[in-house]
Amino acid sequence: MITLRNLAKNYSGLHAVNSITLEIPSNKIYGIIGKSGAGKSTLVRLLSLLEKPDAGEIYFDDDRVDHLIGTPLLERRRKLGMIFQNFNLFSSRNVFDNIAYPLEITNQPKDKIKSRVHELLAMVGLLDKTASAISQLSGGQKQRVAIARALANYPEILFCDEATSALDPQTTASILQLIKDIQTQMNLTVVMITHQMEVVRDACDFVSVIDDGEIVESGTVKDIFSFPRTKITREFVGTLKPLMDEAIEDLPRYSIKYRLHFTGESTTKPILARLIREYMLDVNILSGSIYTVGNDHIGELIVEFVGQSENLDAAKQHLQEQNVRIEVVDA
Ligand SMILES: Nc1ncnc2c1ncn2[C@@H]1O[C@H](COP(=O)(O)OP(=O)(O)O)[C@@H](O)[C@H]1O
Ligand SMILES: [Mg+2]
Repeated sequence: MITLRNLAKNYSGLHAVNSITLEIPSNKIYGIIGKSGAGKSTLVRLLSLLEKPDAGEIYFDDDRVDHLIGTPLLERRRKLGMIFQNFNLFSSRNVFDNIAYPLEITNQPKDKIKSRVHELLAMVGLLDKTASAISQLSGGQKQRVAIARALANYPEILFCDEATSALDPQTTASILQLIKDIQTQMNLTVVMITHQMEVVRDACDFVSVIDDGEIVESGTVKDIFSFPRTKITREFVGTLKPLMDEAIEDLPRYSIKYRLHFTGESTTKPILARLIREYMLDVNILSGSIYTVGNDHIGELIVEFVGQSENLDAAKQHLQEQNVRIEVVDA
């Protein structure tokens, strides 16, 4: 578990990170989503011990880590992996030598480096690119090299700062899948910084929304999607292309004609509007009439409902509950 207590970082009076208190569970993928300038990269630099906070504390499990210096800091940092939007690879080194770098600086023997690099290349699916120059790789392949390099020393935590923001949607999906696979295999804690709700939806278990240096909302991805509590979260959820529209289009649609008999109160209720809205039906009114009998109104409508069979059944039940009598017309 990573625990942050009242963490703060200022840049000449600007509260880039403003008193953040948060618990990030181990062995999960934790998303932190926010707009540009919200303080995401500042937060991740504090978490990855690249910068010191102005106030507050960071704990990895029970160990306080924000005030470390010297060798203990270096040792901690070796247990952290990091990947970025721009990959940050060494262009003067080929694929093998990029991945070997963190093993070289920890003085590992040559044969061990070789076997570990091959293991990592296999893990990220780049065995055929061992000797390639970085400039010959696609964006997705570059990020795979960066992932392999970040994992070389068996880190406990992987920080991803906008790792897929420079990639097209298909490549993004394949990199997210790779991170998910590796997370499970290596029992990693992954902190995924992003401005894209798709990344949260497709890869994360938990998410916090950061705005203006503060965490405004946290929870499981499912809960945040189902009940976004703040305006900014609703905006993020709203940026997603609804998968539902396509799904509904793809399902077979049926049409049934009914004769509906309304009496009393039911004539005055906006029943049809509700059917359209809640059961996603198309409703065609074929004919209709309303009579007054004594003090009662009696209505009869002949309608055609078009929709998914499940929704048609649910709509029929709803009508019956509203005391609308239903007859099927030329079934
Ligand atoms: N090294 C820095 N010096 C001065 N201001 C900075 C520095 N890093 C970030 N900031 C400012 O802090 C705020 C948060 O930036 P950042 O953490 O990079 O946001 P994000 O990654 O969410 O886009 C911004 O207003 C940015 O200009
Ligand atoms: Mg950033």
